[in-house]
Amino acid sequence: MKEAIIKSKNLTKKFPVGNGYFTALEDINLEIGKGEFLGLVGPSGSGKTTLLNIFGSLDVPSEGEATVMDKNVSQLSHGESAELRNKHIGFIFQSYNLLPVYTVYENVEFALLLQDKSTSERKKAVMDALEWVGLTDKVKSKPAQLSGGQSQRVAIARAMVKKPDILLADEPTANLDSENSHHILQTMVELNKELDTTFIFSTHDEKVMKYLRRMVHLKDGKIDKDQLITSL
Ligand SMILES: Nc1ncnc2c1ncn2[C@@H]1O[C@H](COP(=O)(O)OP(=O)(O)O)[C@@H](O)[C@H]1O
Ligand SMILES: [Mg+2]
Repeated sequence: MKEAIIKSKNLTKKFPVGNGYFTALEDINLEIGKGEFLGLVGPSGSGKTTLLNIFGSLDVPSEGEATVMDKNVSQLSHGESAELRNKHIGFIFQSYNLLPVYTVYENVEFALLLQDKSTSERKKAVMDALEWVGLTDKVKSKPAQLSGGQSQRVAIARAMVKKPDILLADEPTANLDSENSHHILQTMVELNKELDTTFIFSTHDEKVMKYLRRMVHLKDGKIDKDQLITSL
């Protein structure tokens, strides 16, 4: 494995419920190398989203550690974790989360507005990202005019436009048919190769699993199996 970009050590996450706690993740030890194409695989409720949120510095462990790009997420200030996300991490969600009143172009450009880039630099980056996902002809469309597959492509372009080191995708094919799922996954495989972005999926979709190079199986908040997929 190449150098680790994400590590967790005895990571446990408990949520307060009623008078006690619910343990959503327990004793997770994981090293994810730069450029991996990995899935957190498990049934609903197994802890996939909780772990992705911690790796995305949107949440912190209750016990143990998560280190993302050499930074312990529990020790980051609000501003530092925002900067980590803004510069280094892209997110894709199952529900696309596009802004309905903005065009495709603006939805993708939005991800760059917090960065110090000129209008022309932004334009080049946005058009490159739309080209990666095959949507340069939709720049002026609004999300309501797009199919589910096209919407998810816009979400990928938005997540990839800043060329993040880490791309976190939470059940990205949950609302897509098999043909669109297949296209989306192929696009991500290409981006993984071309940009060396580390891809981490949460999924229980067989169609996604076929593309993964490593599957970390979660069961009741624990790692059940860590499986490297060797080349065909
Ligand atoms: N904020 C929360 N408060 C209480 N329980 C939670 C919270 N978030 C998640 N859980 C519980 O933790 C478990 C794992 O949830 P989640 O990570 O969303 O699983 P998955 O993404 O694999 O479906 C579930 O039982 C869920 O109900
Ligand atoms: Mg989930």
